Amino acid sequence: MSRAACLLVIISLMSPAAEALDNGLALKPTMGWLHWERFMCNIDCDTDPNNCISEHLYMQMADVMVKEGWKEAGYEYVCIDDCWPSHQRDAQGRLQADPKRFPGGIKKLADYIHSNGLKLGIYADVGDKTCAGYPGSLGYYEKDAQTFADWDVDLLKFDGCFMNRALLGEGYTNMSKALNNTGRPILYSCEWPLYEWPLKQPNYTAIRETCNHWRNFDDVFDSWSSVKSILDWTAAHQDIIVPAAGPGGWNDPDMLVIGNFGLSHDQQESQMALWAIMASPLLMSNDLRDICPRSKELLQNKRIIDISQDSMGKQGYRTAKGNNFEVWERPLSKNRLAVAVLNKLETGGPRGFNIGAAPGWKICGPQCNVTQILPQYKEMGVQTQQSKIIVSVNPSGTALLTVTPISSDFTRLHKLNWQGTFVRRKHTIL
Ligand code: GLA
Repeated sequence: MSRAACLLVIISLMSPAAEALDNGLALKPTMGWLHWERFMCNIDCDTDPNNCISEHLYMQMADVMVKEGWKEAGYEYVCIDDCWPSHQRDAQGRLQADPKRFPGGIKKLADYIHSNGLKLGIYADVGDKTCAGYPGSLGYYEKDAQTFADWDVDLLKFDGCFMNRALLGEGYTNMSKALNNTGRPILYSCEWPLYEWPLKQPNYTAIRETCNHWRNFDDVFDSWSSVKSILDWTAAHQDIIVPAAGPGGWNDPDMLVIGNFGLSHDQQESQMALWAIMASPLLMSNDLRDICPRSKELLQNKRIIDISQDSMGKQGYRTAKGNNFEVWERPLSKNRLAVAVLNKLETGGPRGFNIGAAPGWKICGPQCNVTQILPQYKEMGVQTQQSKIIVSVNPSGTALLTVTPISSDFTRLHKLNWQGTFVRRKHTIL
């Protein structure tokens, strides 16, 4: 290959596969809170007024987000999921919030959220009905987009239940256009590929042009097996989905369930670390009014959030697996690298892993600076390619590190090499 052709390949590998949806939003992975996994379709406000889907829930969550450092940490969107509307549209055919649970209506709720310096997300469905059986938007895309814009909504999660799979692309694209035509910037969160995979391999170029993020796989549950299945699916499909991610459009592996009931602390650290490596939206689904201090500290960990929000906006890959370890690596701005080592063995105690075996460690020639972020913050100082640093990883836990190359000459050369080899490399077995 000529030098020029080689450069072209490198440049194309350095930028995402396609143009992102051009609405100026989601230049970094979205951060916020989304009700679904924790509060589901609890509409029983008579017996459970504190936890039912009502305007109070979002107002209280917004209050806590401001008071308890969530907003300052970067969490910005307060998002409503399914079960908010009335079962009937109004006389003009518009969606309306359930009058008993949202007596002020969505516009008032948006005003409240905005007065706290936060943004409001809402939920609808591309088909006849939402997944929980509320009115769908099929046949009403313009009307619903305009209603959301009139209410000053900032994000739409658009689900894919009760829709002819062959028409998913058309439906998601038409809603994207309808949102755009309102003139209000509304972040567009899709589930298009998740519903399309059973039919055919989705067209991620079209998806990236249409949506700001997109769910690919099953709903997250509050369990380690669920988090693991999402990681496994992502790694198995990474050559298809990772190149589609970049500023303006992201793969969405679903909500963070940190701070709930099902994950041990090590597993919570694994979810946080891997969601940062995957450049995933960080949408928590938990009860911020009652969350344990360790989970809160983890979710607000600035060093992990900095990886998630890195300005280069490249999603990471699983680069190696073997001996019940997985190595995931994400290239960061300034030629840095984030490395996560996941211990998949769910028995025994902490196991040592030689971080020098991580494929990306080659950036340590001649020298690099290493910082461990999880399980504890530790400056590990200057290292070389020959260094043997053993990190200790608990069962189902993750060690997370950043690696900064030192020599600038090498850095420049490496950058080309790294970008060129990253997506093509086959998994190494450790
Ligand atoms: C689907 C989605 C979930 C949630 C529910 C609501 O299952 O994937 O994220 O929105 O519907 O009914």
